[in-house]
Amino acid sequence: MHTETHTGLDSPRGIWWKPAHRSEKMWVAIAFGWCMVLFAMMPLWHFKGGQNPSGIRRKVAPAAYYARTQEFIRQYQVGEDNGFPVVAPPPGADIYLTAMAFQWTPVLKLQIGKEYTLHLSSLDVNHGFSLLPVNVNFQVVPGYDYGLRVTPNAAGDFRIICNEFCGIGHHTMVGKVIVVDSTGAEVAQNGGARVGSH
Ligand code: CUA
Repeated sequence: MHTETHTGLDSPRGIWWKPAHRSEKMWVAIAFGWCMVLFAMMPLWHFKGGQNPSGIRRKVAPAAYYARTQEFIRQYQVGEDNGFPVVAPPPGADIYLTAMAFQWTPVLKLQIGKEYTLHLSSLDVNHGFSLLPVNVNFQVVPGYDYGLRVTPNAAGDFRIICNEFCGIGHHTMVGKVIVVDSTGAEVAQNGGARVGSH
């Protein structure tokens, strides 16, 4: 039996390729053009799209951030929910939310239509702030304090879900935001919230 050995050093025999068809070349050209459009969109979106948080951002030691959160809780605590302090800060206040494996503290009680500066940071690893059922998402990073201007635009009971895998208890990491109307009464339906730098 005749066997042939072939190594990668020899060029293949015969016609093993055909020149690209015109439509294939056109497809490559279109795909490349589209790549360039998407590439240009990245810097464009940064400056024009309002997609990047323009809130306050500063470095902070996790322990110092946690101490600030504790102080905030002492100042405005109005109750307790499942062992977590419920905090009702006045409109316009700087409010502090701490993420840690595997909880969010405190429970925030906010007024509809009022602006707050929401500070987010983590004590350990990256967590993801995801406000349900509205589509609000934000990275919570240890060592950084992010201040976002938020104005709740619907009353109700909202859940903060961690959307960044942070360990064995990731799926249990659920926090709470309660939005009440100006009289302080809780409304039973879920609504929306607006987050932005306006
Ligand atoms: Cu915190 Cu996942």
